Amino acid sequence: MLKTAICDLFGIEHPIIQGGMAHLGTAELASAVSNAGGLGIIGSGYYEPDWVRQQIHLTRQQTSQPFGVNIPLTSPFVEQIVEVVLKEKVSVVATGAGNPESYIPRLKQTGIKVMPVVGSVALAKRLERAGADAIVAEGTESGGHVGETTTMVLVPQVVDGVRIPVVAAGGIGDGRGLAAALALGAQGIQMGTRFVCSTECIAHPRYKQKLLEAHDRSTVVTRQVLGLPQRSLQNKLTDQFQALEKAGASKEELELFDRGRMYLGLIEGDIKEGSLLAGQIAGLIKEIKPVRVIIEEIVAEAETIIASLKNFYRED
Ligand SMILES: Cc1cc2nc3c(=O)[nH]c(=O)nc-3n(C[C@H](O)[C@H](O)[C@H](O)COP(=O)(O)O)c2cc1C
Repeated sequence: MLKTAICDLFGIEHPIIQGGMAHLGTAELASAVSNAGGLGIIGSGYYEPDWVRQQIHLTRQQTSQPFGVNIPLTSPFVEQIVEVVLKEKVSVVATGAGNPESYIPRLKQTGIKVMPVVGSVALAKRLERAGADAIVAEGTESGGHVGETTTMVLVPQVVDGVRIPVVAAGGIGDGRGLAAALALGAQGIQMGTRFVCSTECIAHPRYKQKLLEAHDRSTVVTRQVLGLPQRSLQNKLTDQFQALEKAGASKEELELFDRGRMYLGLIEGDIKEGSLLAGQIAGLIKEIKPVRVIIEEIVAEAETIIASLKNFYRED
């Protein structure tokens, strides 16, 4: 059975992590992933600390397995959410969109494992020195906020740069992706887009349907001007956003234009005017499935692929 250092570190059965997702990483999804042997992560997004506390309690009601909380460092409530996770002693804290260095000592003192998401080797090295337990190396293929380096290029370089376990994220949606990530030296994978297309994810059915219809070139990156490039399905909103960026709209104008768009797209299902975060791997996903089936199929496929690689060897 496939077991890696990530399984040992977090006490999970399979080296598969559900990336924290704003609006979608609810107790329902996180507990389903943890119950299926992966690591489920609550996405605190821009929600208030009380909401995060409530999701932690709900997750605990639905699973006895380890799970994590993702804190985007752009949230206006970072300090208070750190207090919540410390008090609740969650197993793992994942951070996104920034440098969590200053929070690591307190989290670790409480016995919480810290797993920042990074898009560069330099930040990975820095966070290892600061005491991170594992690193998610996330390539530009990912849904949500992205850097510029691809997963294929980033993962082996982060693996060479640090000694702690590395998790590959961005562009992974099946067992081939898991096998490839392990071949690059990662100890596990983190997926977002694949888990949006699960039965347990509360994403609006119209958004899920758009993901199923997507192909390899259906996503675009916008919001570079705001300093937080974001990958989502191309739609009327991204066209308008790009036009505004091109016309030299100010940061304030763009922020105002962007307000509330994520909730509108992901939860209310406005597929034209809402923001439909998605990774390039959306083109690979053809079916909504229960989380347990997604995880079991990926593990089985990766195991088959890894075992069959020896067929490439010839006697002569
Ligand atoms: C809808 C959506 C919302 C996301 N929100 C967050 C977030 O709040 N914090 C974060 O660190 N990453 C976020 N991500 C990134 C995921 O956690 C994950 O790393 C990424 O989706 C992996 O790439 P993939 O989409 O190719 O699987 C989000 C991704 C998606 C698709």
